[in-house]
Parts: sequence; C-alpha cells; structure tokens
Amino acid sequence: MKGKHIVLGISGGIAAYKSAHLLRLLVKQGAEVQVVITPNGKEFITPVTLSALSGKPVVSEFFTANSGEWHSHVDLGIWADLMVIAPATASTIGKMANGVADNMLVTTYLSAKEHVMVAPAMDLDMWAHPSTQRNIATLEADGVEIIYPASGELASHLVGKGRMEEPENIVERIREYFGRAGSLSGKKVAITAGPTYERIDPVRFIGNYSSGKMGFALAEECAARGAEVALIAGPVALDVKSPRIRRIDVESAVEMRDAALREFADADIGIFSAAVADYRPETTAGSKIKREKRDNMTLELVKNPDIAAECGAAKRPGQFFVGFALETDNELSNSRSKLERKHLDMIVLNSLRDKGAGFRTDTNKVTIVTREAEKSYPLKSKREVAADIIDAIQL
Ligand code: PMT
Repeated sequence: MKGKHIVLGISGGIAAYKSAHLLRLLVKQGAEVQVVITPNGKEFITPVTLSALSGKPVVSEFFTANSGEWHSHVDLGIWADLMVIAPATASTIGKMANGVADNMLVTTYLSAKEHVMVAPAMDLDMWAHPSTQRNIATLEADGVEIIYPASGELASHLVGKGRMEEPENIVERIREYFGRAGSLSGKKVAITAGPTYERIDPVRFIGNYSSGKMGFALAEECAARGAEVALIAGPVALDVKSPRIRRIDVESAVEMRDAALREFADADIGIFSAAVADYRPETTAGSKIKREKRDNMTLELVKNPDIAAECGAAKRPGQFFVGFALETDNELSNSRSKLERKHLDMIVLNSLRDKGAGFRTDTNKVTIVTREAEKSYPLKSKREVAADIIDAIQL
C-alpha cells in the first residue's frame, strides 16, 4: 500500500469513531490518506483527530471560510488511487446512487476516476429497507465494491445486520484490491457483450433478453486490474465508466463477428459473454411489412456465424479464451461440448433454472468449467462474478 493515494470518506454515523482506527492502519501501511468528511460526520469525530492522524487538513466544505479558498473535488478524484467511504450512512449511499452532489464527499465520489469501496453502517431496519437495498444494488451496478456490514449489537442496542465491518477487515479488502489492481496491466482483453439484433424490416428485429450487464461488469473488472479492454457491445442501454475501455458498438451478429475477428486476434484474454442470435432473416425488408396484406407470415432464417467458434479456431498459443453457456437442461455436458467445439479454455455456465441468474438481473450464479475441473459459486453481484472469472483465468 506504500505510496498509494487513498481518499477516506466519512459520513455521519456512530461508526465514524472506527474511522480513526482505519485511518491509522492505512497510514501505518504507508498509504497517503486524504480525509473527506460530511458536515454530519464532524458531529461524530473531530477533524482535528483525523488531520493529526493523516498529516493532512481534513476536507469538508467546498470553500474555506474567510479565505474563500476552493477545494477541488476534481483534483481529489484524479489524485486518488482508491476512494473508501467508511462509514457510509443510508443517506450518503442514497445520494451516491442518485448523484445528489450536495456535499464534498459525494462530489468527490462523482469525480473519482479509480475504484470505490463503500462500508455501510446503519441500524438493521434502515439496512433492510427496500430503498437502501435498491441504492446498494445501483452502486454495485455502477461498479462500486460494497464491504457488506456485519451482524451484531448496534448503537441502538438492537441486534442485527448493520455494523460497519471492522477496520482490520476493511484494510484487508483494500490490500486485496491493490494486489488485484495491477494484475492485468500491459494485457489486452477483448469482450463481446449484450444481445444482437437481426433486422426483419426497418422497425422489427429478432433479439433476446440480454442487457449486457455481465459483459460490462467483466470489462470494468478487467480495466480496474489495469488491462486495456476492447468491448464489443450489442444494442444495450449501459455506459462504460473506465477510460481503459474502448467500446465498439454493433447491432447484428455479422457486425459483431467482424469486430471480434479484428479485436480478438491480438488479445491476451478473450471473453464471449454476448448472447448472439443463432439465426437471422434471410432477407431484410426495405420498408415496413404491412399486416393488412397477410394473414400468415413465414420468416426464412439463415444461420449466423458462431463468433466464439471462429475466433477459437484462430486462437494462438498464449491466448486464453472464455465462453459462456446459457443452459436450461444438461448444463454440464452441454458446457463441456461447447468448450471443445469452440476451442475455448473455460466456460462460464449460467442456468436459467437458477433464480437471480442469467439475463437482465444484477446478480448471477455460475459454475466455471475447465477441461480439468468445475467449480460452482453462490449467487453474487455480476461485478463479483466478473472478479471470480478473472481470478480463475490462467495466463
Ligand atoms: O447480458 P445480461 O443480461 O447480463 O445476461 C448475461 C448472459 C446471460 C447473456 C451471459 O451471462 C451469457 O450467458 N452469455 C452467453 C449466452 C449464450 O448465447 O450462450 P450460448 O450457450 O448460446 O453460447 C455459447 C457461447 O458461444 C457463448 O460464449 C456465446 O457468446 C457464444 N456464441 C454463441 C452463438 C454465436 N452465434 N456466437 C457466439 O459467439
């Protein structure tokens, strides 16, 4: 952690007293820490304590009173190798999830260029409330790493989930993050994501339910580990966050194949997470097909290219290719046959029989299948699943 720049965000909860210990541990590990505290946070712990421990003035307001000096959240966002918000109250989490930039902490979060971790702390009912859970899901989908609260006695003397994770464990998560962070630097990763649309006429298409969330989570995770990422995306309503991701938008399987043949050729890691339409209409009507003219309609379909199989057949030694399998039956045997047929090194199996897995959800439940072994994981956020997949890749 030596020399790493960490912004420690502190919001107004009783667990703020633990932030002093967290700060001390980070400084002891050699990190340079800049504290940003909300106005309510200062009611729980004084800036004097925090600046004495960090060796830096604590930032809380947009301006210093009297001198009129402006504190630049943009500079802080660029300076930080990591932002950790501990404790994060329900209010701060809600503001972060919705971009309510009415204090220095949330404004700095919105300017942060690198990874962000959040350690929530609140009473059990607030934690369990649907709005908090919705906001947490939004943050996870935005690529924020949540250090989930532990169970135990809370400040209210109620017992349940909501205690901020202990500072030692937060430091361990930060150490793990920095360990991962540079693990793909100098590597190129190519990823296909989302559905493909196969045009029937100017207003209709054949498509599927893929949202692109799994592929985008993989792209963000690879970029967070230092890789340069080419993300070939079908039509999805998602944004890319990391500047290390180069996005190539396509619509059809044929367009995706053409981009993939270019991008996967020199990639160290290739990941095929797109749900590609296996067939497309043989012809596309030039103008809208009118229902008044027909009682029945038959679409003649032709087979689309198998992108993973084509790229797999051209795979060079040293490249590692990962496919997905979306199955409803005979999951493992179908996965293994795809592994061989498409010349892949690994298959990530997700089953539509598992609740919370597959299309559109923010979570997934996967089994990672290689020639040698298979390992099943519990239901996790798609970002955490992405981390498990990258951890399993053997370069
Ligand atoms: O996008 P989300 O809403 O987050 O959903 C994620 C997901 C369910 C789409 C994703 O996790 C997933 O399973 N993607 C692969 C879906 C799929 O098409 O599976 P398949 O078993 O039909 O294909 C096997 C593999 O071959 C896949 O890696 C697929 O990308 C690839 N393929 C398939 C057909 C084709 N013509 N070209 C391909 O490259």
